[in-house]
Amino acid sequence: MVAERDFKDFMAEVCTSVAVVTALADGLPHGTTVGSLTSLSLRPPMVTVALGRRSHLLAVVRRTGRFGVNLLGAGQAGLAAVFASPVADRFAAAGWEADDGLPRLRHAPGWLVCRTERLVDGGDHVLVLGGVTRVALAPSAAPLVYGRRAFGTHCALPHHAPPSITDQIAAFAR
Ligand SMILES: Cc1cc2nc3c(=O)[nH]c(=O)nc-3n(C[C@H](O)[C@H](O)[C@H](O)COP(=O)(O)O)c2cc1C
Repeated sequence: MVAERDFKDFMAEVCTSVAVVTALADGLPHGTTVGSLTSLSLRPPMVTVALGRRSHLLAVVRRTGRFGVNLLGAGQAGLAAVFASPVADRFAAAGWEADDGLPRLRHAPGWLVCRTERLVDGGDHVLVLGGVTRVALAPSAAPLVYGRRAFGTHCALPHHAPPSITDQIAAFAR
């Protein structure tokens, strides 16, 4: 038996990207913050996102069979919080436009257009398998990352030169 607290503490150590997944129904935009965006396949290009069974966005994705992925940048933690909160109009805080019939946030550095290929039940979530039909990326933007229960960004480690061969021989001789 796994304690829920232990599982949550473990998963808090798993850093994720942060994206707003969107869909459009009857002219109205819907969007939810996710940390579950994962690459699934290269040929053909596919991603997955896990949405809670009771997610309003999931209901719209079930109906429309399509969704967009807005990959957020380091300056967009506020937007991520809004799209995870119960405010009435999440899109009021964000400039957006319909792109390929899906809501695209104006300043998000990454954008995917996806067709829902399959929905797979997984406990209290549903795994949405999406076939990617379009990709757009602003390459220089620093990503928004969520880990240890806080927003942050990615930072590359300084390059460490491998130890010289003489150091390695000396280490073996010890
Ligand atoms: C950083 C972060 C990551 C999240 N990741 C997910 C996720 O992957 N799947 C999910 O269903 N909810 C996730 N949530 C919670 C949803 O954004 C939140 O429950 C939202 O209110 C659901 O909205 P909806 O019912 O309109 O879909 C995340 C929240 C935050 C702040």
